[in-house]
Amino acid sequence: MTSLLPIRAAITGVHGYVPDYVLDNAELSRMVDTSDTWITERTGIKERRILKGEGLGTSHMAAEAVRGLMRKTGTKPADVDLLICATVTPDFVHPCTANLICDMVGIRNIGSFDVQAACSGFIYALAVARQFVAAGTCRKVIVVGADKMSSIVDYTDRATCVIFGDGAAAVLLEPSRDGTGIMDIILRSDGSGAKYLHQPAGGSRMPASAETVAKRLHSVYQEGAAVYKFAVAGMSEVTREIMARNNLRPDMIDWVVPHQANRRIIETTAEKLGLPMDKVMINIHKYGNTTAATIPLCLWDYEDKLKVGDRMLLAAFGGGFTWGGAYLTWAYDGAAAAGKGNGAGAV
Ligand code: COA
Repeated sequence: MTSLLPIRAAITGVHGYVPDYVLDNAELSRMVDTSDTWITERTGIKERRILKGEGLGTSHMAAEAVRGLMRKTGTKPADVDLLICATVTPDFVHPCTANLICDMVGIRNIGSFDVQAACSGFIYALAVARQFVAAGTCRKVIVVGADKMSSIVDYTDRATCVIFGDGAAAVLLEPSRDGTGIMDIILRSDGSGAKYLHQPAGGSRMPASAETVAKRLHSVYQEGAAVYKFAVAGMSEVTREIMARNNLRPDMIDWVVPHQANRRIIETTAEKLGLPMDKVMINIHKYGNTTAATIPLCLWDYEDKLKVGDRMLLAAFGGGFTWGGAYLTWAYDGAAAAGKGNGAGAV
């Protein structure tokens, strides 16, 4: 008998990649005037990964994640209908990184494009991908969140360089008719927040010049305290709204998957919403803020704990400002799948 449930896009696989090089707080303390105590107390970060190697960009990490995802899920290049990459550190201004990833993993002749919504990029890309699957246009869509933040971080600015790291993770989306999958997504933006968090030079407003390089204007500019305040407000608002419109009480949620910007932002948001921390995925201590990669890297790290039907809330906030939330029910046995790939394991 045909199911009467609507077609939903469900995550049916996840895989991540982080570079081998570990930049820990001790090494950072030798580079700028900071300390392990300051970084740990203010952010919760102990170490982050850095992509080393001449000519390696974001696409390198994303392609590793996508290769692993395809291996784990038994997906062949010819099976993939669409690939979307969320990133704020594309290899080039153009062409987009998604095109390069497809070429690197042997996927040909499909639509592929980037989505740029800074730290909310993964939720934005998921929202786009979901429409293709739910509409029946695509059967297998890969969404990858990837950022080489070390390429736009000023390692003389102690207020920003301690926060960011490099990484990538990808999910496979497929149609689901069993009630699992993405139930709801909310996207928000406010361009007036650009002044608090942006990369001043390298775009059409201020193209690269000897002066922009000398003044370090190709790096992240951030007013940390202001961003902190907006991040807590935005993540709380969007999570509260998605819970209200889906009739979800805190006790009905199995997992919260927050963007990993700062452990204190996550804790404050969870407390405001009455969501206990043992349901909140955290891996910021290992990777720092990997921008578009944080949420899928959390799913990868926690995959072996995830059960069919687990109710999950995703929430992110980032440059733009952009923010967003998603509500989904998990579609597969995470422990069985994690056993098939080199999952990140314990968090
Ligand atoms: N080590 C030691 N001291 C540092 C430091 C570091 N790495 N970075 C900044 N400081 C100093 C500042 O210079 C300032 O010193 P002063 O009081 O003598 O002027 C002091 O610490 C407090 O600075 P402040 O910026 O108010 O600290 P904070 O408690 O707000 O923490 C952040 C700074 C960046 C960790 C915090 O604001 C934050 O996480 N903001 C959100 C950032 C974020 O999430 N960005 C990504 C968006 S998704």
